[in-house]
Amino acid sequence: MALTLQALDNVGVEVSGFDINKPLTEEIKAELTSLWYEHAILLFRDQDISPEKQIEFSRIFGPLEIHPLKVNISEQYPELFVLENGGEKDKFSTAYYHGEEVVGRLDWHMDLHYTARPNHGALLRALVVAEEDGLTGFGDLAKAYDALDEKTKELLEKLEVAYSFSMQRRHMRYVDLEGYEPGPYSPKNPTDIGFPDFADAVYPMVVTHPVSGRKVLEIVEQFLDRVITPQQFGLSNDESIELLERLVAHTKSPEFTYFHKWREGDMVLWDNWRAMHCTTGTKPGVKRIINRTTIEGDVTLGRVLTAE
Ligand SMILES: [Fe+2]
Repeated sequence: MALTLQALDNVGVEVSGFDINKPLTEEIKAELTSLWYEHAILLFRDQDISPEKQIEFSRIFGPLEIHPLKVNISEQYPELFVLENGGEKDKFSTAYYHGEEVVGRLDWHMDLHYTARPNHGALLRALVVAEEDGLTGFGDLAKAYDALDEKTKELLEKLEVAYSFSMQRRHMRYVDLEGYEPGPYSPKNPTDIGFPDFADAVYPMVVTHPVSGRKVLEIVEQFLDRVITPQQFGLSNDESIELLERLVAHTKSPEFTYFHKWREGDMVLWDNWRAMHCTTGTKPGVKRIINRTTIEGDVTLGRVLTAE
């Protein structure tokens, strides 16, 4: 049975032509998995799916992980991570952008990237959607790599880049801080939300995808900190900063990114070893519920920095 594909804007595909509630043949499972590696971002619409089915469907792509933020885990289904907005907890993820109050906005990132061992992937299913805003952006960093000129590719092969975890957005060096003000309840330290104080994680600037072998530009704006010992590779500190600025702008180009406007029941699966994502957030008080399952990362792509 052939699945039906429809390209999303710029990157990713919508996959239809199967019923998630009917037993899926090994052939369809293999086809879904290879589509995941081929396109990195898959959208499924109009599937009538229960939490049990979401968990079962996610397992096609690998063993599932229990997210470290245990507070948000569904009691009944420990594999489900419930992202919920519209309540009292919103104040912790509220900030101001050009004077406007926004809940739940997140810069481009890969999940658990700061641990050097990112998740393999994740699947989001929208239960309650925001009428306006609340988009999730996805960016394909294999395509972003392919589009670089040969000279840049050659330079990047030699370089490593460090990511420094921090709670405060204004401490991040490569996010757009223009017009940004933290909210009064924005966490200030990792311990405020029960996180350990993570050491820096270092990655080759070009990571080879462990399964597909595609080259991935390992640049995401969130927590991006510095090139490791740039002078050893003929770059001054200033040049290395300008290089990172140029690469961050490149990864965010419209040709490598897709912004998903959620409809109730939509599911999006992405390959977190290749695709970055972000959220645009909503106005305060907007109800939004997303159930998320996470596919375990069984490969360490970077290294935790103990000495430089
Ligand atoms: Fe995320």
